[in-house]
Amino acid sequence: MPPTIDLRSDTVTHPSPAMREAMATAEVGDDVYGEDPTINRLEALAAETMGKEAGLFVSSGTMSNLVAVMTHCQRGEEAILGSEAHILQYEVAGAAGVAGVQLRPVPNDEGGRLDPSLVEATIRGQNLHFPQTALVCLENTHNRCGGAVLTPEETRAVADVAHARGVRVHIDGARILNAAVALGVPASDLAREADSVGFCLSKGLAAPVGSVLCGSAEFIARARKNRKILGGGMRQAGIIAAAGVVALESMVERLTDDHANARWLADGLAGLPGVVLRPGSVQTNIIIFAIEGQDAPTLAARLRESGLLATTLDARRIRMVTHYGIERADVEEALDRVQAALGAVAA
Ligand SMILES: Cc1ncc(COP(=O)(O)O)c(C=O)c1O
Repeated sequence: MPPTIDLRSDTVTHPSPAMREAMATAEVGDDVYGEDPTINRLEALAAETMGKEAGLFVSSGTMSNLVAVMTHCQRGEEAILGSEAHILQYEVAGAAGVAGVQLRPVPNDEGGRLDPSLVEATIRGQNLHFPQTALVCLENTHNRCGGAVLTPEETRAVADVAHARGVRVHIDGARILNAAVALGVPASDLAREADSVGFCLSKGLAAPVGSVLCGSAEFIARARKNRKILGGGMRQAGIIAAAGVVALESMVERLTDDHANARWLADGLAGLPGVVLRPGSVQTNIIIFAIEGQDAPTLAARLRESGLLATTLDARRIRMVTHYGIERADVEEALDRVQAALGAVAA
């Protein structure tokens, strides 16, 4: 069996040797008392990176989004977000089930954007029958839209219409550092117009666990209570936060390698018979392509047999993600395996 090449997600990354070293020697304390120096350092570093006053270390991107929704909205209020948003599609309806918040989708375009005029029109007016619109959520980069980036201008256009109506803005920035690197701007430029932003340490940045939610000091103080409600008050979690500090300090610039590998893979895939890939659609580390004339689950199963792991999105589409641990040679090998599997499925 040839070595496995795992392109299912950038969540499969393993911590770097520097992370393991930092974890082994991390200074820790009780974070529920605010006494874990490593967590305090990570939260400060994250807040600075995002241009916000404060940060809150949470267990996952899902927890970051749920805490943000709980903190911005009262029960029975409404949050507007994209039809393809991770919060809507993949977070087990936690906003509804746990936070008591109704999610109201508006269409995402293929670049992961929301039409600001549609967002404006969707914000509720005063009416006895209506829920209160409290929040608009954006996603940058956009997972189901193939890692598409939102620019500072696109973010501001939506934030302006929300803020003009007294509605707050949260960015699900699980991969916002990929967007920053791809655009060549500081992440703080992408987060400037938002009232909160969460980002993941455990995706392309390769830390084993964790996300950080950032916002004003007042917002984060309330978010901290909501994290506690969710059971997210972790004690000597500096052990895992230590890897997050290494991630922020040394793993951001290398995201350009993942993006270059993704483009290389996309160009190779686009040249294979039956592969449909929208030109220019690969902006960061996620590649989504469709298969013509055969179904995606069958192809994915064939790829798995060859030791190449990918995610099946639906009957037609497959997703591949480049990340730390995937080198150019792996991408070349992955292309060979896709070519062989396409031939075998077609035969
Ligand atoms: C855009 C986005 N938001 C949130 C999450 C959730 O992150 P986690 O898996 O850490 O809960 C993901 C995970 O892939 C994601 O892609």
